[in-house]
Amino acid sequence: MKNIKKKIYHKLINNELRYNNKSLVRYENNIIKKLGNVSEDKLNQLKKLKIKINSIKNCDLKNNAKNLVFADGNPNSLIMIIGEGPGANEDKEGKPFVGRAGKLLDKMLEAIKLNRNNVYISNVVNFRPPMNRRPTDEEIKRYLPFLNKHIEIINPKILFLLGSTALNALIGNETVISKARGKWISKKIGEVNTEVIASFHPAFLMRQPDQKKYAWEDLKMIRKKIVQFKIK
Ligand code: URA
Repeated sequence: MKNIKKKIYHKLINNELRYNNKSLVRYENNIIKKLGNVSEDKLNQLKKLKIKINSIKNCDLKNNAKNLVFADGNPNSLIMIIGEGPGANEDKEGKPFVGRAGKLLDKMLEAIKLNRNNVYISNVVNFRPPMNRRPTDEEIKRYLPFLNKHIEIINPKILFLLGSTALNALIGNETVISKARGKWISKKIGEVNTEVIASFHPAFLMRQPDQKKYAWEDLKMIRKKIVQFKIK
């Protein structure tokens, strides 16, 4: 691992250097594990995108947020997960899905043998909507080019959309999540061809645990696709 890569990554993904000295070693190991051999070009593109998002002007979301929440996970992953937008914990830590919904997401991933070292996670909007409201259609429209670019850079084979905001932003408004979930859709985003599947958002599943059985069906479909695509 070249030092320069570590530095770029350090700036890119809001760093995990918030524990004590001992965890410095764990932090470095995590970076090495997550980064694998991510190309310099990919890292640069991600860095540029992050800077671009951060320079957005006259945006209520940015004006009210503490931190930009860009992404978590492995930029080399062929599986990209998109949520809605950061909540209070994510805003504080600058990292997606670190709160209660994030804990459930981790469990869902674990159930199909995935974790944050082999997926890549981002959101439709990168700043916390005030009072955890849904991002407005205007806001979604404004952040969509960033999201499309983000997807293009990562170039996932599988795009996993969590909840109706991600579904509507990337697939369209004419579908409801309860009908659209659990179906594969082939989609071209920018220059990238990807297989998209939507499921319920973990925050929704915490409110409606009886719906978890459907989410489990969707997760099993993802597992099958991973095997079919021979994704390691
Ligand atoms: N909910 C989301 O949609 N994204 C997060 O990052 C956290 C909670």
